[in-house]
Amino acid sequence: MNNLSTRKLTPEILDSISHDDPGAIRSRRDLRRINRFMGSESWILQNIPPDTSSITEVGAGDGNLLTKIAGARPGVPIAAYDLAPPPADLPAHANWIQGDLFAQTPDIQGGTLIANLFLHHFTEMELSSLGRFIRSFKAIITSEPHRAHIPLFMGKLATPFVHPYTRHDMRVSIEAGFRPGELPAALGLDPADYRITETTDWRGSIRMVARKK
Ligand SMILES: C[S@@+](CC[C@H](N)C(=O)[O-])C[C@H]1O[C@@H](n2cnc3c(N)ncnc32)[C@H](O)[C@@H]1O
Repeated sequence: MNNLSTRKLTPEILDSISHDDPGAIRSRRDLRRINRFMGSESWILQNIPPDTSSITEVGAGDGNLLTKIAGARPGVPIAAYDLAPPPADLPAHANWIQGDLFAQTPDIQGGTLIANLFLHHFTEMELSSLGRFIRSFKAIITSEPHRAHIPLFMGKLATPFVHPYTRHDMRVSIEAGFRPGELPAALGLDPADYRITETTDWRGSIRMVARKK
């Protein structure tokens, strides 16, 4: 049974400080290492349908995954959304839309939407509202923190090796993460319309692939 009410939403430090704050720069570097450890970027890349007409990433961060995707799919139109400015080395065929995702409509629809460590930022009501944006895509691929004891424990083990901002944000991200069934329900993905698979990974992620029937 879904129990989204046990999610705890606390603001993340990285979302409230300037993009060029030295702590933010260090924390984004930690995030790259965390992403490498979690293996979710490779998993997302492998799950993008080979015949997709476009790829849209929401909460694209420093554009690391987007750059990998652009290299792997050179002919496919790409759009990315984030509050942060575009990375200096943004691939030529990618369109970066800077600003609050809640104020946007999809630049390109119908292809694949991806989100890595992004959706856990939002309340159930916000996710329901984002669902309208997200449901305009044929394939939806997400990797988010799994709200469970083992990821919290592993996060504690990592504390000596990461910046204090990362330490804080890692804990609050896991507390705001998801358990199986919660994210599809919050985004309004009806199993009558989508084939949905969810898996959890021992490294702390909960991964979803939803494909329109
Ligand atoms: C934890 S970071 C993850 C970034 C990237 N996906 C990664 O894995 O490295 C979350 C990202 O979401 C962005 N973000 C948070 N709220 C947002 C909003 N309302 N609209 C657009 N982007 C947002 C932040 O700027 C940040 O880059």
